[in-house]
Parts: sequence; structure tokens; C-alpha cells
Amino acid sequence: MPFTAIVLAAGEGTRMKSRHPKVMHKVLDKPLVWWCVRAARKAGATRVIVVVGNGADEVRDFFAHEPVPEGEAPVEFVEQTERLGTGHAVRVVRDAIGGFSGPVLVMAGDTPLIKPETLAALVEERKAQHAACTVLTMTPDDCTGYGRVVLDEQGQVTAIIEHKDCTEEQRQTLKECNSATYCFCGHRLADNLDKIGNDNAQGEYYLPDLIKIFVSEGEPVGMHHAPEASEVLGVNNRAQLAEVTKVMQRRINHELMLSGVSMLDPDQVWVGADVTVGQDTVLMPQTILFGHTTVGTDCTIGPNSRLTNATVGNGCTVDESILVDSAIDDDVNCGPRAYLRGHTHLLKGAKAGTHVELKNSVVGEGSKVPHLSYIGDCTMGASVNIGGGSITCNYDGKHKSHTTIGDHVFVGSDTMMVAPVTIGENALVGASSCITHDVPAGALSLERSQQIIKEDWANHYWERLKEED
Ligand code: UD1
Ligand code: CA
Repeated sequence: MPFTAIVLAAGEGTRMKSRHPKVMHKVLDKPLVWWCVRAARKAGATRVIVVVGNGADEVRDFFAHEPVPEGEAPVEFVEQTERLGTGHAVRVVRDAIGGFSGPVLVMAGDTPLIKPETLAALVEERKAQHAACTVLTMTPDDCTGYGRVVLDEQGQVTAIIEHKDCTEEQRQTLKECNSATYCFCGHRLADNLDKIGNDNAQGEYYLPDLIKIFVSEGEPVGMHHAPEASEVLGVNNRAQLAEVTKVMQRRINHELMLSGVSMLDPDQVWVGADVTVGQDTVLMPQTILFGHTTVGTDCTIGPNSRLTNATVGNGCTVDESILVDSAIDDDVNCGPRAYLRGHTHLLKGAKAGTHVELKNSVVGEGSKVPHLSYIGDCTMGASVNIGGGSITCNYDGKHKSHTTIGDHVFVGSDTMMVAPVTIGENALVGASSCITHDVPAGALSLERSQQIIKEDWANHYWERLKEED
């Protein structure tokens, strides 16, 4: 069913003790508010309005760099310049967009665990109840801080009282809590917002006050109880942020495991929102997969590995390695301790070994960079072997230059390739050379001084030392 979603994200978030807006704090790899927007979109929102205020530019800037998924609503922003409460925030939206029509879902930008199916059910339930408002409620183990839902003898909602405005008795006895997620009938919402006052403990215009206003006017009000209290946990401080992140981590890992991915210890694997992992892949402890990362089938990733915006083919091993904005094709091995960055691409069967850094480079099929090397701004053909300790000297202090290495090249250990330089196919470069000129295809290139041998020199030396004792 089509509806408008309003995500309230203008608050100061004082309890976060942060210089950034609360809603920009991350759960795994995405800000709190992004998860809320995603849930609203997936639930079928045809319009998504985010109310920004504190740190508005940071929120806007984030969404400006996030692609809108195909067929889903773009994010619109309304700025609440004065933060006078959640009721005021919705009033500002009404005035900015010229009123409401159809169902309006209002949710807080700090409840990232809410599931799309719960939002969709809330929207459906309000319709079925013909209610002016249906509120999503929950019964958490600890009600501290939450608004309490007051029910009459028939179990009908009559009011919501904020924690700070409750009497001690109400705090003890009222267990049903407000999740700060509601579905309203658009025009009845628009018509009643101005009736909210601010005579309360915080001097704010509380959106949940609409409940008692509707009830006093004989408008039907309903409630929808959230299936799990954890879904509507609100994040007000960093301890709650960690708690919510734990729930999200478990949720994502659980789904992955049921889809055929193994984890030695799911508590030590962190997978972001836009990540896919193929069947029979094993994720070892201390593995972080963030951003737009795709891992194929039959891979072993980790331990101690971080992949951000990485594409991994099938049958790969990534051991204690970091891949950022890079891709490896099928049967590639990385690590232990490889670092791939800046749009590096390893083709099928290639290897980036131990203590190897690769930046903005293409490593051809079956080519190997096995030990202690830096390869940057390089195009390498197939079946190349780069000896340990070799480096592309790609930076002269100002410019970056390119190195081209042809198919079947063998580069001996400890070779410096001073870019721009080309090593032709089938060429051989002797160990410890400093290559400053192009090497023709099929040639041998050596750059090193003649080795000296002085027979018996060392024997005499040791004897001389002994005599000194
Ligand atoms: C709110 C509810 C409370 C509920 C709880 C659930 C109110 C008055 N109280 O309390 O009943 O149990 O959520 O988590 O609504 N915001 C604005 N503009 C403002 C004020 C707030 O956009 O002027 C935004 C905040 O950024 C936040 C959301 O509204 O994302 C909720 O505000 P918050 O201060 O966190 O409300 P709670 O005290 O948690
Ligand atoms: Ca809150």
C-alpha cells in the first residue's frame, strides 16, 4: 500500500556526546538514519522525507553520495531549524510540503532495527482499523526513557505519557511502550498537529500527545505490538548503539549462515548492509566485509581481513589481508598480509603474497607477486613472476608514473622499476637491478656492479681478529 514516510532526524542527540548528529553514527557500515530509510523504502514508501536540523549538512551530504535503489523513492529533506519536539518536527514537514494525504508513517531516525515487514504490517493495520493513528508498541525488558502507553479497561489506547512526565507509579505499572513509530491518516494528522501543546517536563511539542487529542475527539486510535522488542530499540547513547549493532550483526550473519555461508564464530564477523557472500564460503574470525562488497562461492576469507567495496570471485583465499576498492577474479590468493587498494584487479589464478601492497594495478592471469613488494600504477600481463622485495618506483615526489610488464616476464628479487618504464614480454630482469630504461621483449636486463671475489680474504680476517684477543 503506498504511503509517505517521515523519518525524524533533527534532534541534537545530546546523550551521544558527539560533534556529529546522532543519526549519522553507524550501525555496521551505515548511519542509523540510512537503516530507517531503507526499512521505509522496502516497506513500500512512495515518498521518504527526512527531517534534518542538527548537523543537517552531514546528513544531506551522506545521502547525496548514496545511489537510490531502482524503483525506490529518493530522499527528500525538510529542515527543522528550531528543535521544539517531535510534534513540531512533523508540523514543519506539513507546512513545507503543503499538507498530507494518504497514510503517513512517522518514525524516528534512531530506531535502525525496525523491519520493513513490521512497517508494512503497521500501515495495513491502521487501514483495517480505520484509525486516525495506529502506534507501534513494544514491551522491552527495561522501559526507562520510553513513553508509556496508557490503555483503558478494553485495552484501547488512550494516551502516551513520556517517561519524564510519568508518576513513579505509572513508571512501575505501565509496561507497554511507544516505539516512536506511527501510521497516521494523513489529513487527520495535518488537521490536529496544531493542537499539540508544550506544557510538559521538557517544554516540547510531543507527537505522541496526538493520541489523547484524537481520543478526546472520538477519533479511533489503534496499536500494533512489535513482534520483537529488540526491533524498536532506540539509540540515544553509545552503549545502545553497540547493543543495536550487535543485534544487526547477528541478524545479518544468521541469514548468511542459513543461505550457505559458514562462520567459525559469527560474533567475530561483521558484514555490512550491501554485501553478498556465495555458497560454501567460510568467513573466519575478525573479518569485516563492508561497502559494496561481493564474495563468490567456495572462498575462505580471514582471519583478520577487511574488505571494503571489494569484488571477490569464486575459490579465492584472502588471509589476513585488506582489500579496498579492488577486485580479484576466481582462484586468486591474497596474503597472509596483502594490501590491495585503489582499483587493483587481480585476474584469474593470480597471487598477492605476504607483505605485498598493490595499488591501482592490474595483475594478469596466473601472475604472482609473492613476497614483500610494492606494485603501484602497473599493468602486468599473464604468467609474470615478481621476485621478493621488488618495487615499482611510481612517484617522483610530484607525479605518478606507470609501469608496464609484458606476459611471461621474470623479475628477479629486489628490483626497482623506475616508472615510466616498460618491460617487454618474455624478458628477464636480474636480481637487484634498478631498471630505468625500457627492457625489450625477450631480453635480459641487469643493472648491478661486478661481484668481487678475494680468495682467503675472510680466513685472514678472522685470524687477525683472534690475534687481537
Ligand atoms: C521518543 C518518544 C517516546 C518513545 C521513544 C522511542 C516523543 C516525545 N517521545 O522519545 O515516546 O518511547 O522515542 O524511542 O516523541 N527529533 C526531531 N526534532 C525534534 C525532536 C526530535 O527530529 O525537535 C527526532 C530525533 O532526532 C530522534 C527522534 O525525533 O530521531 C526521537 O527523538 P528523541 O529525542 O530521541 O525522543 P525520545 O526521548 O527517545
Ligand atoms: Ca530516541
